[in-house]
Amino acid sequence: MDRIRLNDALEMSRLVYGMWRLGDDDNTTADHVRNKIAACLDQGITTMDQADIYGGYEAEEILGNALTPELRHRIEIVTKCDIVAPVGRYADARVKHYDTSRAHILASVDHSLRLMKIDHIDLLLIHRPDPMMDHFETGAALDEVVKSGKVRAVGVSNFRPWDWELLQSAMKTPLVTNQIEISLLHHTPFTNGDVAFHQRHGQPIMAWSPLGGGALFDGKHTALRARLSEIGAEQGTDDAAVAVAWLLAHPARILPVLGTNNLDRIARIGDAAKVRMDRETWFDLYTLALGHEVA
Ligand SMILES: NC(=O)c1ccc[n+]([C@@H]2O[C@H](COP(=O)([O-])OP(=O)(O)OC[C@H]3O[C@@H](n4cnc5c(N)ncnc54)[C@H](OP(=O)(O)O)[C@@H]3O)[C@@H](O)[C@H]2O)c1
Repeated sequence: MDRIRLNDALEMSRLVYGMWRLGDDDNTTADHVRNKIAACLDQGITTMDQADIYGGYEAEEILGNALTPELRHRIEIVTKCDIVAPVGRYADARVKHYDTSRAHILASVDHSLRLMKIDHIDLLLIHRPDPMMDHFETGAALDEVVKSGKVRAVGVSNFRPWDWELLQSAMKTPLVTNQIEISLLHHTPFTNGDVAFHQRHGQPIMAWSPLGGGALFDGKHTALRARLSEIGAEQGTDDAAVAVAWLLAHPARILPVLGTNNLDRIARIGDAAKVRMDRETWFDLYTLALGHEVA
């Protein structure tokens, strides 16, 4: 499994396992979570993607209950903050909102450390752009959590290039990545400037919902799915692996974040890295995703 260096203190596996749905699994026992992580590690997938809000602010604790000190040292933990929804510890919030204040970021980092029973977060992301962001305050808070050693690297999620530039302009620490939605079902980032911006600046991009959050398999994308399966069959793998390989083939260094709860599927996430994809195959799939040939 390829590894991507994000800064002097952090390297991540090219394929990432996402834990948004961890709490939705029928089985959230520590043993089962450890089995999922073990299936990832067997393939060289060492990076786990979390967020404070996942599972109504409970998914970090589900992971924390499963982590042994030995296991913690073998993985990188990404987590996020700034979404405040009126559930769990924020049940008193009057309205769902974003909070990028220093107080919220510092408190959220401490909650994440405590719930996951860890002494540092490998990568902290601001989850969503906050229209009320005071970039000087947010930037200083992110610098502060890195300086304190609680966080190894900082980045953002769902930011547009101008959001990134605003925040970065008020920070000493370089932002290392932007986690955005990209897939065959959500390919506008390839043409709206999002991918180009980070490619230009050499920042790897994390792609969430690389299988469209499962929508790729909902029966509405028959031609695309048939072609993915055909390519998969030619190379001894399946449609999902080919869809993820479509992201891996792009020169921007995209790190797909997969979210299946199914142990058999988790054990096959790494197959995507073995798929060969030439330029014409990439465009073949892009054409089917667009619904028409390129101009
Ligand atoms: N930064 C953000 O704003 C943001 C937003 C959303 C997600 N994320 C991150 O991205 C991660 C991945 O998101 P995601 O879970 O939506 O990604 P995904 O991998 O595109 O979708 C996973 C979903 O697809 C289903 N699925 C996977 N393979 C399938 C197959 N072969 N046939 C049928 N169904 C299949 C899974 O069901 P099974 O479990 O049954 O396999 C699961 O429900 C999350 O865990 C989270 O870490 C970040």
